[in-house]
Amino acid sequence: MLKDYSCGELRKVHVGKRVTLAGWVHRRRDHGGLVFIDLRDREGIVQVVFNPEVAKKAHELGYTLRNEYVIKVVGEVACRPSGTENTGLSTGEVEVLCTDLKLLNTSRTPPFYINENVEVDENLFLKYRYLHLRRPNMRDNIILRHKVVKFMRDFLDAKGFVEIETPILMKSTPEGARDYLVPSRIYPGKFYALPQSPQQLKQLLMVAGFEKYYQIARCFRDEDLRADRQPEFTQLDLEMSFVEEEDILNLLEEMFTVLVETIKPEMKVLKPFVRLSYNESMERYGTDKPDIRLGLELRDLSDIVAYSDFAVFRTSIQSGGKVRGICLPGCAGYSHKQLEELTELAKGYGAKGLITMALPSEKHLDMEQLTANKVKSVVAKYLTDEQVREILRRFEAKSDDLILIVAGESKMVDKVLDELRREMGRRLNMSDPNLLAFVFILGYPLLDWNDETKLWEPMHHPFTAPYEDDISLLDTDPGKARARHYDIVCNGFELSSGSIRIHNRSLQEKIFRLLGYSSDEIAARFGHFLEALDYGAPPHGGIAPGIDRFVMLLAGAANIREVIAFPKNQNAVDVMSDAPSPVPQQQLDELSLRLKEEALAEIKLKANS
Ligand code: AMO
Repeated sequence: MLKDYSCGELRKVHVGKRVTLAGWVHRRRDHGGLVFIDLRDREGIVQVVFNPEVAKKAHELGYTLRNEYVIKVVGEVACRPSGTENTGLSTGEVEVLCTDLKLLNTSRTPPFYINENVEVDENLFLKYRYLHLRRPNMRDNIILRHKVVKFMRDFLDAKGFVEIETPILMKSTPEGARDYLVPSRIYPGKFYALPQSPQQLKQLLMVAGFEKYYQIARCFRDEDLRADRQPEFTQLDLEMSFVEEEDILNLLEEMFTVLVETIKPEMKVLKPFVRLSYNESMERYGTDKPDIRLGLELRDLSDIVAYSDFAVFRTSIQSGGKVRGICLPGCAGYSHKQLEELTELAKGYGAKGLITMALPSEKHLDMEQLTANKVKSVVAKYLTDEQVREILRRFEAKSDDLILIVAGESKMVDKVLDELRREMGRRLNMSDPNLLAFVFILGYPLLDWNDETKLWEPMHHPFTAPYEDDISLLDTDPGKARARHYDIVCNGFELSSGSIRIHNRSLQEKIFRLLGYSSDEIAARFGHFLEALDYGAPPHGGIAPGIDRFVMLLAGAANIREVIAFPKNQNAVDVMSDAPSPVPQQQLDELSLRLKEEALAEIKLKANS
């Protein structure tokens, strides 16, 4: 190699050694006739000193170096003069006295600083992703990701799992999002679908007798993007035969716990993982993805205010809705403007309005003696003293607290309070950033009624088994059937979903029919899969943690783009290569595709602008 040591590895034990290094000029400083270079490679940064009295030619060349030039340095490791050590750098006790310098390549001035974490427009970062990845924090994220994936592979290998690749060109499998389609040249008018996940294939691997399968699987979903969603992302996809829920959950709990302890020991894992039923999670947090680090649990006030004089409360409950709220400690002093801002926030999440109740800030407040007129709220005059006290008791409210109440349709109320809770938890710094609070959510309903399509939809996917005892409900009251489905949530993000699967053909067919598929559709889309269930399919189940989301949490990043080497932007565009992009007519002809007029006009417009 062009180097025998890496920049980041030099320490006091290397003093006196002659080393050859190669890397990028991170920063240059000229001081007292000397040139100082911070030389950077993947392992870190070390200071190189060019002294005209040690090496005249190298010193002269050193003057011409600019940021991001690529150089090879030969020199001797020395202790830094006392008082000039840099405690912020792992190599900060030493420096390399250069005797020979070779310029390997020059660099244009980068479009943003590599040596400082100055933010620029994200599209500029993405256009020059290879430069953004040079930043030490980005490099660390990608290396962290490598360590996570390597740990998962080693861990599962030791547990007897076999890594098996599955195709990328395949048939659509329903996971709830839109498919990315690939037109077939050989079969005009026919399409492959990129896998939304290898769900059917991993189940077929169980039918094939592999018993324990995993894969670092790339998945593709054409859906609205968010901070934790990319059009292509990676799952640790796994499946096991002859298992029940506990086997999968215990395996995952052990894997995540040991992984964090090994790779990121500065983070704590809440042990054992918390378990919540779906209903309890919705009750306490208004979501099945709770960040349990925050406190600020939701409380239902419907029974207290159902017959109150406040019409909004009354009518919400009469029309089947709810009145619920959260209590923010020490926020009673919020100004009118701050409360208006919170109301706008709530409206942005879908609420019609937000009722606030500010408690007096007296030190020794006797809640049992408190009267409605002591509470600052537009609803106070419509509530009796006892109703107000009952509300405060429900929140175990204290002096100086601020209660936020939302009334209306149940799903909306839960969504708004979940969002407000997350936002206020952030603003009030209520969570420990070094704590990973994993939660298993269990006991989901199998199906969810879609009021628009008037059809049942699977809460997870159609291959999830109902509880044995609930199978008869599929004929009488399908909405009541519970699923053998489990999610792993961490710090408010859905990290994994999985389930015990249906391995019986007639039950699987029954579910497809319940979901509204006709017999012809079932045969066309799932015929091959149903047939496989007829050939001795073993009981099986699995799960698929999202690797991007997990690494994002470990890295303390706010967006999964930070932990993916070459992500798409929030509009699903690869800014660096400009994909998606138009293709030559000849390629379309080969695929027997013709573009609609609107699409052609759009392409022309873009080309001209
Ligand atoms: P599910 O659809 O819940 O389950 O996905 C599992 C996990 O994958 C991650 N994930 C995503 N990450 C980034 N961007 C996306 N667009 C995205 N979509 C999903 C999440 C999620 O928890 N086949 C089933 C698993 C199974 O049943 O075994 C599945 O894919 O972390």
